[in-house]
Amino acid sequence: MESVMESNRVGGMEEFHVMRVMALAEQLEKEGMDIIHMEVGEPDFRAPDAVKNAAISAIEGGATGYTSALGLPELREKISEYYVKRYNYKVDNNRIVVTPGASGALLLALAATVDVGDGVLVTDPGYPCNRNIVRSLGAKDIPVAVTATENYQLSAGLLEKYLTADVRAAIVSTPSNPTGTVISAEELLRVYERLSVNSSILIVDEIYHGLTYEDDMETALNISDDIFVVNSFSKYFSMTGWRLGWLVVPSKMVNVVERLSQNLIIAPSTIAQYAAIACFEEEQIEIYDHRRDIFKERRDFLVKALTEIGFKIEVVPEGAFYIYADCSLFTNDSYQFCFDLIKHTGVAITPGKDFGYNNSHKYVRFAYANSMKNLRVGVSRMKEYLL
Ligand SMILES: Cc1ncc(COP(=O)(O)O)c(C=O)c1O
Repeated sequence: MESVMESNRVGGMEEFHVMRVMALAEQLEKEGMDIIHMEVGEPDFRAPDAVKNAAISAIEGGATGYTSALGLPELREKISEYYVKRYNYKVDNNRIVVTPGASGALLLALAATVDVGDGVLVTDPGYPCNRNIVRSLGAKDIPVAVTATENYQLSAGLLEKYLTADVRAAIVSTPSNPTGTVISAEELLRVYERLSVNSSILIVDEIYHGLTYEDDMETALNISDDIFVVNSFSKYFSMTGWRLGWLVVPSKMVNVVERLSQNLIIAPSTIAQYAAIACFEEEQIEIYDHRRDIFKERRDFLVKALTEIGFKIEVVPEGAFYIYADCSLFTNDSYQFCFDLIKHTGVAITPGKDFGYNNSHKYVRFAYANSMKNLRVGVSRMKEYLL
């Protein structure tokens, strides 16, 4: 028998299909083509100077050893204060676990609660890593086909169909990737209550909080202290590569999550943690909020422009920096469409199949993490090619 083999758990794990689009983008760029990137799911902004300087000071001052697995007490305190300022919600510092990004938070939340064979509800379309983290733990992802009718979010109505005895957890991302749509506080409460009756837990990924364009969102912690809340420095704080996020856990789960964190990661990056402390100063928050206004302007522009071209946007995204658009006026194969589009226009976008199986051949995702100038160029090239 072959000795070097992948585990069964990772056998079904697909690569990100957009990687192939990105590889083609790179090749075309080398050949001299100007590429407009609308495929990448990360802000085009970087950490403000004060944050960078805090990291440099940590390095120069030798503050580079391991921290506690739960994170620097000072950072956990800052995050707790942030909940009071942003949400008017008091969360005990002890319940805040600093993690390597939202990815680390999702991994810890799931590893702490889900057993081999358990079911975990994930939305389809939805953030693809959710199902893959679930699978890597030997649990079973259960895709819930969500549509524009329920804002591409889980709903109590959908739970009637999908919630069975073996469902241990459900993951809600709000605003969502890839749709940018949100679940209302009332619906989230109904979802939480329905799950509780089934003894299933709720994990709410709030990574795109701070990047909403109509109303400020409430945290799911307002509903219950039993909800696991995921967040990150990657998006609102523009720190993707720093690999830092956090998880708020129910009090009685702190110890188990601490043990898991000690064993799986030891501790999140110390340098990133010192930098992150500086994120919460008023000066930085003003910078982030200004960037949010820039994202809003881009969203407004792109939603209108794409609709005029003939893409169908069934729900106007309220947050994040994505538009999930129906491209069936142009194709019945959105994957192929992404390659045709980049070859003819240099516009790089992500095919729907990266986000699930639910009619994904009809959809593509546009990310507006690019300047207005570039978005305008992209739109005019698409107009020329598609109209
Ligand atoms: C919904 C969602 N959750 C989690 C993540 C992971 O983010 P992080 O960089 O914090 O690990 C992403 C990244 O795109 C995301 O879109």
